[in-house]
Amino acid sequence: MTEPAPSKKRIAVIPGDGIGKEVIPQAVNVIQATGATVELTEFDWGADRYLRDRTTVPADGFAMLGRDFDAILVGAFGDPRVPTNIHAKQILLGMRFQMDLYANVRPVRLLDAALCPLKGIEPKDIDFVVIRENTEGVYTDAGGVFKQGTPDEIATQEDINTRKGVERIIRYAFEYCERHKKLDGSPRKQVLMCDKSNAMTHAGGLWQRVFKEVSREYPQIMAQHMYVDALCMQMVRDPRQFDVIVTNNMFGDIITDLAAGLQGGLGMAASGNIHPGKTSMFEPVHGSAPPIAGKNVANPVGAILTAAMMLGHLGMTREAEKIEAAVLEAVRQKKATQDIGGSLGTREAGEWVANFVGRE
Ligand code: NAD
Ligand code: IPM
Ligand code: MN
Repeated sequence: MTEPAPSKKRIAVIPGDGIGKEVIPQAVNVIQATGATVELTEFDWGADRYLRDRTTVPADGFAMLGRDFDAILVGAFGDPRVPTNIHAKQILLGMRFQMDLYANVRPVRLLDAALCPLKGIEPKDIDFVVIRENTEGVYTDAGGVFKQGTPDEIATQEDINTRKGVERIIRYAFEYCERHKKLDGSPRKQVLMCDKSNAMTHAGGLWQRVFKEVSREYPQIMAQHMYVDALCMQMVRDPRQFDVIVTNNMFGDIITDLAAGLQGGLGMAASGNIHPGKTSMFEPVHGSAPPIAGKNVANPVGAILTAAMMLGHLGMTREAEKIEAAVLEAVRQKKATQDIGGSLGTREAGEWVANFVGRE
């Protein structure tokens, strides 16, 4: 009997701005080196296009992505020539909100002890994941300004928390905990909800109630809680204690940069913006890093691990594992960029990983 031909996964690639345009081509080369059956289509959405013709997202753009693609690989948005950041808001937050990619999954793993700024920490000590609510909170832009430019000016920024939104992200975290193992093969055991319910009592109260309710459905998983300020302190005192962290949009943004610091910096951190069953979007945690853009110094590892995460999500587990193994080897051998102790450029570091993946 012959095996049916594997269906080609269609991937939209949007490098965006700054170092996004350098790291994404490396991630794409690495995907191709795995031999994955994918069809890649590049889009020029970003600052250059915006400055040229004022387009941020072409008409019907999000509908097209959802209809014609299985996943989206994104670099970063942000350019000093667009001080309003309007294109980033419309493209990046637009994808998250309008495609309803409600779970921002940000794994935190230490690949080499030398990369962690903390004393006495080994790779096995840092293997947790932050599940960040990705479609509401203070990111919805609800609010406004009144009497702008006068001494009586007022600005409000509303924190939107819906029962549906809070419940689905908390449930996602418990499901994630149940279904994913740690890198050493041991089961995940704990979901920790992080909020600021001692001060933000309305929104925090909703998160607290829903967390208690949903956690009852998962008696085998330990349900824990920390205020976000205490969590920041614990993360640098003893990151071993974390397993799955679930939190709102803004706290998730902040603590994942802190967590990236534990991994060796923003150049190491990967993320997925996921709605189960819908076209999801994958991007490194870092931004466009204008000061280092165009210099062939940006670390491509975050983007490459993001590509692995995307292939894993699309069911290409073997290809994803190959990439992760190659990155681990590159980091250990310092076949990498300067920020993580190597001496290679972006292109050369990417090529090393692609060659490692492609040999066999
Ligand atoms: P940033 O992540 O771009 O940079 C923060 C620091 O990390 C800088 O010192 C930078 O040099 C370093 N860094 C980041 N990625 C690196 C890499 N791959 N290799 C080596 N060093 C790396 O954050 P920022 O400076 O706060 O923001 C710059 C722009 O990017 C802003 O316009 C911001 O809004 C945007 N941004 C976009 C995204 C996104 O599109 N997903 C994420 C964060 C920030
Ligand atoms: C991130 C970024 C974005 C966010 C910015 C660019 C709006 O910092 O993906 O972490 O805050 O979500
Ligand atoms: Mn961020």
